[in-house]
Amino acid sequence: MSAKLWGGRFRKDSMDSLVMKFTSSLDVDKILLKYDCLSTKVHVEMLEKTGYVTPKERKEITRALDLLIKDHDKILAGVKGYEDIHSFVQDFVESKAPQAAKKMHTGRSRNEQVVNDVRLYCMEEITAIRRLIAELEMSLVELAEENIKVIIPGYTHLNHAQPILFSHLVMSYVEMLERDSSRLLDARKRVDMSVMGSGAIAGSALRLDREFTARKSGFSGISANSIDSVSDRDFIVEIVSAISMLGVHLSRISEDFILYSTGEFGFIDIGEEYCTGSSLMPQKKNADVLELARGRSSFFIGALASLLTLLKGLPHAYNRDLQEDKRHLFESVSAVKDELLVLSRLVGTITVEEAGIAAQMDDEFLLSTDVAEYLVEKGMPFREAHAVVGAMVRYCIDNGKGFTGLDVRELKGFSEVIGGDISRILSHEYSVKNKKTPGGTNPRHVGKEIKRWKRKLEI
Ligand code: ARG
Repeated sequence: MSAKLWGGRFRKDSMDSLVMKFTSSLDVDKILLKYDCLSTKVHVEMLEKTGYVTPKERKEITRALDLLIKDHDKILAGVKGYEDIHSFVQDFVESKAPQAAKKMHTGRSRNEQVVNDVRLYCMEEITAIRRLIAELEMSLVELAEENIKVIIPGYTHLNHAQPILFSHLVMSYVEMLERDSSRLLDARKRVDMSVMGSGAIAGSALRLDREFTARKSGFSGISANSIDSVSDRDFIVEIVSAISMLGVHLSRISEDFILYSTGEFGFIDIGEEYCTGSSLMPQKKNADVLELARGRSSFFIGALASLLTLLKGLPHAYNRDLQEDKRHLFESVSAVKDELLVLSRLVGTITVEEAGIAAQMDDEFLLSTDVAEYLVEKGMPFREAHAVVGAMVRYCIDNGKGFTGLDVRELKGFSEVIGGDISRILSHEYSVKNKKTPGGTNPRHVGKEIKRWKRKLEI
């Protein structure tokens, strides 16, 4: 049980146990221990430099903090009865260096201390999440490369649209994920500043060296306004927002893989070690990992909504409500890291099922757009070409035929411009190879993209 950091003005020296339970954030913020110790070490170094603690006092405090960093698991196990991690750290140092510890909190308040700790946590975690995104991207690039030539039906409205390369689809996931990574990197710019020296709200009358503290802690600079420093939680919202977007992307990728692995599609197979079975139906092999990844996005979105709701209408500057921000951040970070890791491993087990794909590729109407563009190349206005091919499709359906089943007389009946050369374009391979625009599904273009990504990801 700890002494309070604020006991002086209170007559009673104990808090109702219910209040302690209700107000304590220790269970959630113990994750900040490492950052709290590191930033306290820097703070005390600054206090020594500015003459508020002696070198001996600094050494004693630092020794206690180092001990805490080294043995944190053991020391923290079963610890209860503290308001938060900051109170615990103060109490621990007091137990090791009672006199020196009294100076440790000089020129700081928990209002900026907690923000500083969370900023340090975010800088590290953003890097960790981005690394995991890169790992998933690598798995996807490898999947694309292994199956570079496989053609599947491209779907719009979940209906057959045009032939596309499976690898092109997989590389589209890499593009999405890279945007998520860059959103996190962008958010990091606004995380990267020290708020120490904000003095709870108004700044400090002590000669604190804010720049020194910032640099020594690994921040690029200092915040400009002490009120904003303790109020601002935008940086957390931005990160959870980027994670939510990432979670939605992972959910969409998962959904594609779920669909493609069903008996109905049969385009891919997922490694058994990443699937589960049914307790009742012996034949089942379910894509539960992907389903959970699809479902988990709801959690991130909930966290984002909670954070925004927490901030809406909150008066400046610090209010205890803000303590509630951390659970959403920490849980989102931890969940998205788990998800990225399991998905990158799962992607490594995916194999393409040629038979299932072949069954769906037995559809010449996938080439309708190619026929329309063939007519445009012959000089026909596009709207007219669209109508002509529409009529061809109608005729084929009515007569149980495909485009290649139409003879010259039937073809000429739709348009005089159709020549024997149409047979050249009526294949899925030709369709993808004939795409000319950058960004399209032409195998040469997709091959280049795969190479570009391999260089970028250093595979
Ligand atoms: N545990 C608190 C939080 O997470 C730390 C700041 C407490 N400040 C205060 N004045 N009660 O926000």
